[in-house]
Amino acid sequence: MNVLGIETSCDETAAAVVADGRTVLASVVFSQIPLHQPYGGVVPEIASRNHLTHLPRVIESALDQAGLTWAQIDAVAVTYGPGLASSLLVGLSTAKALAMRLQVPLVGINHLEAHVYSPMLSPDGPEFQAVCPLVALMVSGGHTCLVRADGPGRYRRLGWTLDDAAGEAFDKGANLLGLGYPGGPAIDRASEGGDPCYIRFPRGQTHKSAHVSPQASDLCFSFSGLKTALLYYLKAHPCLPGSPPSLASIAASYQEAIVDALVERLRLAVNHEQVKRMAAVGGVSLNRRLREKLKQLAASLKVELLLSQPEYCVDNAAMVAGLAGIGQGISGAAALELDAMPNLEIGR
Ligand code: KG4
Ligand code: ZN
Repeated sequence: MNVLGIETSCDETAAAVVADGRTVLASVVFSQIPLHQPYGGVVPEIASRNHLTHLPRVIESALDQAGLTWAQIDAVAVTYGPGLASSLLVGLSTAKALAMRLQVPLVGINHLEAHVYSPMLSPDGPEFQAVCPLVALMVSGGHTCLVRADGPGRYRRLGWTLDDAAGEAFDKGANLLGLGYPGGPAIDRASEGGDPCYIRFPRGQTHKSAHVSPQASDLCFSFSGLKTALLYYLKAHPCLPGSPPSLASIAASYQEAIVDALVERLRLAVNHEQVKRMAAVGGVSLNRRLREKLKQLAASLKVELLLSQPEYCVDNAAMVAGLAGIGQGISGAAALELDAMPNLEIGR
């Protein structure tokens, strides 16, 4: 079964064709990063206008690269949330029109569930049900949470962020350090050769929230204090060329605080849930220091670590088509009625 996937939830315009849920025949991503760079972040109006302009050719290239004709597409899958409303609507209306014209089923996919599925994307990758139960650390620009997966469609949210997402913490920190957008890759690069122990930035929640149960509280994240700590540090210690601490050490220390906060809560969640597998998914899971510490954690807990291939960590449509290919998502008449759901969640 060949599924055409469409993803336009944020600033990537993406289309892919996936056979039988795991074999990626084509995955095309038009990244709008250069268009948003001058503004230091994603501008929703610019994102939706560019989805509108570029989505048709992105879909056609995916079909071309897969070497298929329209007649060989068996279903159209699309992200319907969470994300930017005006961007989601471009993908959703395009997918509805295509499904009707091709007379094939339409499948609505939750973007966060698609990220959790992304490590399965390879013909010899694991089967989703076979690696469950697992605890997934979902870390991207817009979302940060810990999810227990007991199988496709069976998720329970264990922890979440009370303020900024991990990717947002990278992006805001990089902005303060003058490293540009997107901040994650910039801080990852700038940290090279720096001392991660030079400054001890806060590792998240230092106070308990009244809105979160004590048990969930240990698994929840908070990154807004970290950004403020960096701001005050830079005010007190202006970074002068050639004088210590180097930019590399400040960036490495900031990165270390984010990574430690993520890894420590993942450790607690895996221990609490008594699972034998854990996964890290989303754009931030590309971070080299995070990957290193996740591998150490897996070895110390004696659990298997699942990571996506680099091209499926950031937003892409292969994960959308893949998840639909194993029978997940909203289909049938309900799919054609779907509206964009900017605040859609996972496992609540
Ligand atoms: O999953 P994604 O493409 O988009 C969302 O669904 O939000 O993730 C984008 C985020 C950005 O915040 C970016 O700074 C971060 O992933 N990112 C990284 C790295 N590469 C991308 N963060 C840390 N280290 C990286 N190497
Ligand atoms: Zn994403």
